[in-house]
Amino acid sequence: MLSIIVAKAKNNIIGKENKLLWHLPDDLKRFKNLTTGHTIIMGRKTFESLGKVLPNRKHVIFSQNPDFKIQDENVEIVHSMFQIQEYIESKEECFVIGGAMIYNLLMPYVTKMYVTEIHKDFEGDTFFPKINPEIWKEVKREKGPKDDENDFDYDYVIYERR
Ligand SMILES: NC(=O)c1ccc[n+]([C@@H]2O[C@H](COP(=O)([O-])OP(=O)(O)OC[C@H]3O[C@@H](n4cnc5c(N)ncnc54)[C@H](OP(=O)(O)O)[C@@H]3O)[C@@H](O)[C@H]2O)c1
Repeated sequence: MLSIIVAKAKNNIIGKENKLLWHLPDDLKRFKNLTTGHTIIMGRKTFESLGKVLPNRKHVIFSQNPDFKIQDENVEIVHSMFQIQEYIESKEECFVIGGAMIYNLLMPYVTKMYVTEIHKDFEGDTFFPKINPEIWKEVKREKGPKDDENDFDYDYVIYERR
């Protein structure tokens, strides 16, 4: 099964110039806790924004470039949807970690979403797709812990496909 994990602003912005726009240490900790030991699926740009292969996770990276290669036993490069069928059908939870192109591509196959909703608008160039309440049911919402570095509130929200 596929689950999305994302942090998004009130206006659905998720990034700018291939970077995140906020630093939320608790959210990063949550990302690590949820994804460690699992497969993470991402676009080539998001992989480049991570800057390295994350420990204890299998990375599946989408690229259309046949020459794009990463020499690491925990990395698989994929070029088409066919190659991720096994992850869609798997009983294991596999995490779609972005960015916008890959969220849009895979959202129809996703059954659960872990969304950090930041209660503030940001200026950026990359958007998360609109969460349609006719398709997605909010099943859990908790307030993210206050953060000395940030002046905004945020919630950890879980959605499941209806
Ligand atoms: N806030 C969050 O939770 C969050 C999470 C992740 C990312 N982000 C942000 O999102 C931004 C990056 O998102 P993005 O949409 O620009 O890029 P992206 O989705 O990370 O990567 C796009 C790349 O994926 C490959 N790709 C896309 N569709 C494909 C397909 N159908 N088949 C094969 N390959 C395909 C292409 O790689 P090639 O060009 O190599 O062909 C494409 O350039 C950054 O600002 C990042 O910080 C935010």
